[in-house]
Amino acid sequence: MGIRFFEEQKYFKLDAKDTSYIIAVVDDEKYLGHVYFGKKIADEPLDVSSLLRINEPPYVPSKNNRDRMSFHDSFPTEYSTHGLGDFRESCLVIKDSNGHSVCGITYCSHKIYKGKPSLKGLPATFGDENSCTTLEITCHDKVLDLEVTLVYTVFENLDAITRSVKVKNNSGKDIKLLKVLSVCVDFDGIDYDVISLHGSWARERKIQRLPVGFGKRSIDSIRGVSSHQANPFIALLDRSANEDYGNVYGFNFVYSGSFTAVVEGGQFDTTRVVMGIHPANFEWTLAPGEEFIAPEVVMVYSDAGIGKMTRTFHDLYRNHLIRGKFRDRKRPVLINNWEATYFDFDTEKLLSIAREAAKSGIEMLVMDDGWFGKRNNDNCSLGDWYVNEEKIKGGLKHLVDEVNKLGLEFGIWFEPEMISPDSDLYRAHPDWCIHVPNRTPVLSRNQYVLDLTNDKALEYVYSRLKDILSGANITYVKWDMNRQLSDLGSSSLPKEKQGEILHRYVLAVYKLLDRLTTEFPHILLEGCSGGGGRFDPGMLYYSPQIWCSDNTDAIERLIIQQGTAMVYPLSAIGAHISDCPNHIVGRNTPFETRGFVALAGTFGYELDITRISEEDRKMIPGQIELYHKYNDLIRTGDYYRIANFTDNHQYDCWSVVSKDKEEVLVTFIQVLQRPNYHSRRIKLKGLDDKALYRDTGTNQVYSGSALMHAGLNITGVHGDFKGKLIHFVKEK
Ligand code: GLA
Repeated sequence: MGIRFFEEQKYFKLDAKDTSYIIAVVDDEKYLGHVYFGKKIADEPLDVSSLLRINEPPYVPSKNNRDRMSFHDSFPTEYSTHGLGDFRESCLVIKDSNGHSVCGITYCSHKIYKGKPSLKGLPATFGDENSCTTLEITCHDKVLDLEVTLVYTVFENLDAITRSVKVKNNSGKDIKLLKVLSVCVDFDGIDYDVISLHGSWARERKIQRLPVGFGKRSIDSIRGVSSHQANPFIALLDRSANEDYGNVYGFNFVYSGSFTAVVEGGQFDTTRVVMGIHPANFEWTLAPGEEFIAPEVVMVYSDAGIGKMTRTFHDLYRNHLIRGKFRDRKRPVLINNWEATYFDFDTEKLLSIAREAAKSGIEMLVMDDGWFGKRNNDNCSLGDWYVNEEKIKGGLKHLVDEVNKLGLEFGIWFEPEMISPDSDLYRAHPDWCIHVPNRTPVLSRNQYVLDLTNDKALEYVYSRLKDILSGANITYVKWDMNRQLSDLGSSSLPKEKQGEILHRYVLAVYKLLDRLTTEFPHILLEGCSGGGGRFDPGMLYYSPQIWCSDNTDAIERLIIQQGTAMVYPLSAIGAHISDCPNHIVGRNTPFETRGFVALAGTFGYELDITRISEEDRKMIPGQIELYHKYNDLIRTGDYYRIANFTDNHQYDCWSVVSKDKEEVLVTFIQVLQRPNYHSRRIKLKGLDDKALYRDTGTNQVYSGSALMHAGLNITGVHGDFKGKLIHFVKEK
């Protein structure tokens, strides 16, 4: 059993694979204190009072009531509330029917059970009775008659613990929730760094590492989506920790909307981490008897550096988050027409691409933006999900059938959450966009956001998706979302619920995705948001892969994909080979290198195969052969970062090692050639140090220990942007 309650000292001990997390109930009033999070420790003896420092001033209120406020302001609480003197970051802020905002919770009861409950209407990790144990601690604020249940699940074979929170109004009056975060952890000490993932369109998820100091560092999005700018992930780590060494605590929010993550260095050299739905534009009315569920946060602990944290996230997400028939499968090699044609295509153009693609071993054609309404540019027609038969001559079914006849599957692009002002849908329902009355909403890419909190709009868009997907043999959908939310107002919500729109919007997106994946389970869904603007675990629950960035340049992708792979498995990272000069940065890179980088993701093509050079086209069958040869390993193996060119300014290197350590694929990319220099030496990781490994390219045999500790010289890579794959198998 991964969770136990120790009666005498009244503490809960949550044990994941090599991790312990301890919570205690203290003093007569039954405060819930956070005792420990880190490497697994013995059950007993454990001096809970001293770890919580309640045997030193200011003591607990039963011993020193005159300094009750100091107790609240220094106690390592399990879930912080606002208004009673804990002046650090709060998780729960309310407003009662009298306009007051004071709230304090204490322990009432708990239950421990095998398995993991799902969260109604929300994505979450899942696990069965053999892999998980759950603890629910119910607390209450007696004065408000508010019940707060803290839910924890331990994955017993992984170093992962999840948390979510349920808030229930048992009183007879409305209570407003102004902030309900999902996690609070008080760490002892302030000597930590914080890793977060930052960026913008076309340069998503760059890794940033900064020290924690006094005061607050906030990583957040108030954009209505998890965003390009910040990912809902942070890691707190020992200042001395590195890739392979030290304590690392990762937090990832399973949510696709606005979020906050705050790391606060406090006056007594403690560090508080909180994470959850951003309180900006959030005001949720909880009527008597109603419950609010705060989405899940995944907490991963590593005692061996950042790399181990990454691998735990990958294992957890591959086995306990991503679902559907494609989760454990090689995905079809696709060719997408976006960078090939943009809006300028018709049936014949698409068929010409499909014909050429079929010859090279490509397995699917994806028709991107521009097939519906009058969409010949990005100024119109979102919402008018009817095939434009002037372009798709003969209709969609004809096109799909013809593509199928060539032996290719067919995929299609949608942007269901949007509405163009220049669309029949908007002309018929101008109130179906998110807007505030009497104020013209702000345009972004000349489009508005469809108000999915309005059931009629939601039903309309779902019926259009269903109609299109049922009318032809479509086996892939790219679900795009190309702007962030402003002008927050819904004509379908009453005045007192306008503050609920952002969260209701996210819930509505999940509802749509849930319906789609339930009714069309054979469809491979790829999430997208102006590239990687919504690459989060919430979306991964519905779509096993997400387009990582509109920036397809292989060198830029080294940074973007490395940042993304900090948390998310390679199997989920949408990566394609595109044409050069690259459309975003104008850079020329060898076709071969573009292939090596795309292999570290879902793999596919994003170019006009009828127009690229004969030399490049001839390389495609070989690249696809590499994909088929290595994808099982890349999709399922352990990922190791070996060198990072943003640090060394010259080369990048990563490897994937199969779970049984029988096979290893190393990818080395020389970004910049250095003159008058010897070969580079890299040290492999994660091998069996007692085994021998054979380089399948040269047949040379090395010991695992030599490859890891003495290293391997990389030779024969000459010039900028050149790369090399090195494949080892264990000698029998
Ligand atoms: C977004 C996507 C692209 C493409 C375009 C189409 O930018 O990220 O891949 O689908 O939209 O408009």
